[in-house]
Amino acid sequence: MQFFADTAEIEDIKKLHAMGLLDGITTNPSLIAKSGRQFKEVIKEICGVVPGPVSAEVASVDYDTMMAEAHVLAKLASNVVVKVPLTVDGLRACKALSNEGIKTNVTLCFSPNQALLAAKCGATYISPFLGRLDDINLDGVELIEQIRTIYDNYDYTTQILAASIRTPNHVTQVALAGSDVATIPPAVIYKLADHPLTKAGLDAFVKDWKATGQSIL
Ligand code: E4P
Repeated sequence: MQFFADTAEIEDIKKLHAMGLLDGITTNPSLIAKSGRQFKEVIKEICGVVPGPVSAEVASVDYDTMMAEAHVLAKLASNVVVKVPLTVDGLRACKALSNEGIKTNVTLCFSPNQALLAAKCGATYISPFLGRLDDINLDGVELIEQIRTIYDNYDYTTQILAASIRTPNHVTQVALAGSDVATIPPAVIYKLADHPLTKAGLDAFVKDWKATGQSIL
């Protein structure tokens, strides 16, 4: 499963990229607002650090303006993926952009039927939002499983990009469900390395090593 970082924070991106953990990046208007930076400038900078796909989302909701914005975003760097919302206008834009060879990420997906529409409109990625479904007591992982089955049944090439991931357990579950990509907040990526037995084991090794009075260096 590919790892994308779900952030617009350049320092976090540089650090994770240096560890070889990042296959791509996703941003959204809320993450751009949180960064406090200019949208186009930050996208260009991210694209210069991470060679993989970098999702940049249109801000408008009508087809014509979405298309105009998509063309501006696609010109920022060759690895920009244009993110459009899962609405009728967004799907029209997805189809038109796909016909032009521009990669797309259809976002705000909450149902298998929405994912089916995105695949039929030629989406490069579909972004089902797990955490927001869990927030209203619905099963986000089941949605990933259903989309996986539907896409496999009909050989759709649209990649499943599990989004709105909140916990390490979400990462395990979407990997088991066959998601192609998980886009994960940096703090959750680091949490994947944690295990209480790893910590307890290391604490014991450090203590025992100290007691030997030796030094490797
Ligand atoms: C990424 O593409 C999505 O916009 C993001 O994962 C949404 O996450 P949230 O539900 O935690 O805001």
